[in-house]
Amino acid sequence: MRVVRSSARASAPGKLVLFGEHFVVYNNTAVLAAINRRVNVTVHVNNTDNINITSDLGLIGSFKDSRFNLLSGPQETRAILAPLCECARLVLSERGCNRGLDIDLVSNLPESVGLGSSAACCVAITAAVDALFHKPDRYWISEKAVESERLIHKDSSGADCHISTFGGLMYFVKNEGFKKIYSKKQLSLGLINTGRKHSTGKLVSSVKKFKETNVSLFKVLTLFSEIISQKAFVAISEGDEKTLGNLMNQNHVLLQEIGVSDKKIDELINICLTKGAWGAKLTGAGGGGSIIVSFPPNNYELKVFLDSLGKSELGGQSIPVKVDFSGVLVA
Ligand code: PMV
Repeated sequence: MRVVRSSARASAPGKLVLFGEHFVVYNNTAVLAAINRRVNVTVHVNNTDNINITSDLGLIGSFKDSRFNLLSGPQETRAILAPLCECARLVLSERGCNRGLDIDLVSNLPESVGLGSSAACCVAITAAVDALFHKPDRYWISEKAVESERLIHKDSSGADCHISTFGGLMYFVKNEGFKKIYSKKQLSLGLINTGRKHSTGKLVSSVKKFKETNVSLFKVLTLFSEIISQKAFVAISEGDEKTLGNLMNQNHVLLQEIGVSDKKIDELINICLTKGAWGAKLTGAGGGGSIIVSFPPNNYELKVFLDSLGKSELGGQSIPVKVDFSGVLVA
């Protein structure tokens, strides 16, 4: 296939796992929401064989076949940029084209804190590169982005790429697919970034170990996770945020059991609950990362607490978020 344009832009949103993280890797239900924070990608065809990647994190590198030229950034730059290069190469190879590309990434989505930045990068790069050839199809984008995300963490459920591609609220099962959830109400959600970065791959591996050494317990926890996600689906559809908060608390206990929460996360959650939150839980892989909080919109005490986080010794930062209904956008 020939390129029909010399440049393209795409952007893809981050996400929150509202319910079912980790258990979704084992084919149980997760409930997710896309958020109004995005990774923006611009792709230009160049006249070399190189794939040059520039990220606003200060990472710049150039790939030619299996060689890498580090132009800016720390030692790990190659490991961070290589899956993104492979993501672009996958699309080029699917389209039977071997052109060099300049890829620029700009993001307002904090990375490695459970908000789906890797998936959003894969979705936006897949969409932007494919747009050089024709109008991309969302199902194709999500399928190819999942393949690329698995280069970053091999056991990925694929949930993040799906929600980033399609946006909105979603009920997702790895081997079955997804359905959109339509809520009667705009959900009132708070988000705390603890500022402590995690490796999703390592946490997924630690849960795998837990599963293998606690076979019966993991089965019971899985059953609970499934029931919680099913109830959450109904609560979101009905806009019943109080029930949703309660289910978040129950889901967090499961995440504590499988060892992905920690003292700091639990402390922040407890404070939110004493200040009147309906519920709170870690979101994403855990081990640091982020926390979601469901609370009555008129709870000013909690709002003040969240706003003050950056200045307090508790650390962390409150990030205002809304559900994004657009998904991946191509220009
Ligand atoms: O922390 P994140 O944004 O990488 O989310 C990981 C979600 C998991 O369920 C733990 C893994 C997965 O692939 O679904």
